[in-house]
Amino acid sequence: MALTHTLADPRVESAISRMFELAEQDDVNAAHFGPDPASVGSAPRTPQELADAAAAIYMPISAEGGKLLYNLIRAVRPATVIEFGMSFGISTLYLAAAVRDNGTGRVLTTEMSRKKITAARQTFADTGLDDLITVLEGDARETLAAVEGPVELVLLDGWKDLCLPVLRLLEPILRPGALVVADDVDQGEGEGALRPYLDYVRDPANGYQNVTFPVEDGMEISCRL
Ligand SMILES: C[S@@+](CC[C@H](N)C(=O)[O-])C[C@H]1O[C@@H](n2cnc3c(N)ncnc32)[C@H](O)[C@@H]1O
Repeated sequence: MALTHTLADPRVESAISRMFELAEQDDVNAAHFGPDPASVGSAPRTPQELADAAAAIYMPISAEGGKLLYNLIRAVRPATVIEFGMSFGISTLYLAAAVRDNGTGRVLTTEMSRKKITAARQTFADTGLDDLITVLEGDARETLAAVEGPVELVLLDGWKDLCLPVLRLLEPILRPGALVVADDVDQGEGEGALRPYLDYVRDPANGYQNVTFPVEDGMEISCRL
C-alpha cells in the first residue's frame, strides 16, 4: 500500500494550485499600489494601510519553500507552529498539512487584512484543515503577545521590517532548538527591510545558528540555541 500525505489530498492540492495561479497576477495587481507593499520600511504608510492596499496581492512563499516547511515540521513535530503573515493562506496550508500528518500540534497564524482572513477561512474549511488552524486577526505584534508557549517552529513572512520585533516578542516562548524561518532573504539584501532581522539572528551573541536556504528568494533558517 502506498504511503500518502496531506499535500497530496486533492482538496489541498487544488487549493494550493488555484491560489498559486491567482498569485501570478500579483505584479498586475501590485501596480495599482505604487511602491512594493513588502518594502514597508520605505513607505510612509502604516502596516494596516499597507495590508488594506495589498488585500488582493498574494505574495506567497514558493512551492519549494512550502515543501521545505512541510518537511521541517514533520521532523520537528512541533506542538505549536506560529506564522507571521498568512495572506490568503498558501503557506498556512503547507504548515497545517504537516501538522495533520504528524497527528499532533496546532498552527496559529496572523493577518490584518479582513478580506484575506475571510477568504482564507473558507479555504481552510474547504480543505478540511480548519480544525488545526487558529487565525489571530489584527496586528501580530498585539495578537501574538497573548500566545502561550512553548513554540517550536515559526514562519516569519509579514512585513519585513516587523520580522525582528515579532521575533523579539516570541523569544521568551521559543523552546531551545526551535526553528525560525524567514522568507525573502535575497530581496534587497544589504539594504532591504529584512536587514536588521538578518543582522540580529546572524550575530552569535543573540543565540541562533543560521543557514540561508536557497529556495526562490532564500529562506533564513535559524535554530534557537
Ligand atoms: C508576504 S504576505 C504573506 C504570504 C503568505 N505567508 C503565503 O505564503 O501565502 C504578508 C502578509 O502579512 C500581513 N501582515 C503584515 N504585517 C502584519 C502584521 N503586523 N500583523 C498581521 N499581519 C500582517 C499582510 O497583510 C500580508 O497579507
